[in-house]
Amino acid sequence: MTFNALLLEQSDGPDGKPVVTSVVTEVDDDRLPDGDVTVAVEYSSLNYKDGMVLQGIGRLVSEYPHIPGIDLAGVVESSDDARFSPGDRVALTGWRVGEIWWGGYASRAKVKGDWLVKVPDALSTRQAMAVGTAGFTAMQALVALEAHGLTPGEPLLVTGSSGGVGSSGVLWGGLAGHHVVASTGRLENSDELMALGASEVIDRAELAESPSRPLLSERWAGCIDAVGGDTLAHVLAEMRYGGSVAACGLAGGSGLPTTVIPFLLRGVNLLGIDSVMAPADERATVWNRIGEVVDTAKLDAMTTEVPLAEVAALAGPILAGKVKGRTVVATR
Ligand SMILES: NC(=O)c1ccc[n+]([C@@H]2O[C@H](COP(=O)([O-])OP(=O)(O)OC[C@H]3O[C@@H](n4cnc5c(N)ncnc54)[C@H](OP(=O)(O)O)[C@@H]3O)[C@@H](O)[C@H]2O)c1
Repeated sequence: MTFNALLLEQSDGPDGKPVVTSVVTEVDDDRLPDGDVTVAVEYSSLNYKDGMVLQGIGRLVSEYPHIPGIDLAGVVESSDDARFSPGDRVALTGWRVGEIWWGGYASRAKVKGDWLVKVPDALSTRQAMAVGTAGFTAMQALVALEAHGLTPGEPLLVTGSSGGVGSSGVLWGGLAGHHVVASTGRLENSDELMALGASEVIDRAELAESPSRPLLSERWAGCIDAVGGDTLAHVLAEMRYGGSVAACGLAGGSGLPTTVIPFLLRGVNLLGIDSVMAPADERATVWNRIGEVVDTAKLDAMTTEVPLAEVAALAGPILAGKVKGRTVVATR
């Protein structure tokens, strides 16, 4: 048997530097890696890291030919893991699948049972991928902020809010009853962000500069930050006393030009968020919360679907911050 996949190959470019190319092709089942569970993949999704893998950036892939796609959802075909049976609807995010393991841009995948979760009843497999790594990370951030004292009604800033993590943060924050302030460089998306769950939309230029003083006027009780860099430094200086920032991303830079003053004088918490190696109990908590709060009409409204053959062309746009909301990839 064969399955359909987006296969990446690496070769030497004209200047001797490695170049990564992709092709949609049929792959023999006997090339599937070792694993306990074979999944008929129905959908994957597009994340910032997929853009990096598709463009060969960051040495994330150890071996070629490679099947990318850090997320996948579908139906179990066969299983040697007692927790999963044929017909179960399952999803996978992270665990370095799509980087060091073959990933979800394929109609079949063989993976470890430890990496899978059952798709919540409230979601279709397509909707599970509309959540995907970006939406999972945003909910992980919200759960962490709430565990550190964020309560409904308090101002919750979401940076990079037109992107995947950001739009998901706006959706989850609004559904959980927070006063979401969406920061974006694409103000033309304001109406959509308000419909998704924002109470206010601000221009990201307000937060773009490194702060002029270690402490600025107190604005935010919590923040889901997908941007990092000067923006994160600025946000830290504007946190309310005892507020928390969940640092999720680096779309605006990996540096952090800050001082310790917000931590020492305002008791601000900087919470690290990692979705990739998150342990199973945390994953269960996050997916349960998603299943509890999700509004599937709103989730569908922020989702675009592309076929496997079109995802490689979106690598440049997602790395440039030009993709809006979430993109699911139909693999069949
Ligand atoms: N910690 C984790 O486990 C985890 C998981 C998923 C993603 N991430 C990281 O989170 C970040 C976002 O991922 P994503 O999938 O949401 O990507 P995305 O869809 O490209 O969203 C990133 C957003 O950041 C904003 N942005 C881009 N460049 C910027 C700049 N130079 N300055 C300020 N804002 C900028 C844009 O939003 P606006 O147009 O609205 O301004 C853009 O849409 C990435 O760094 C990714 O690696 C981390």
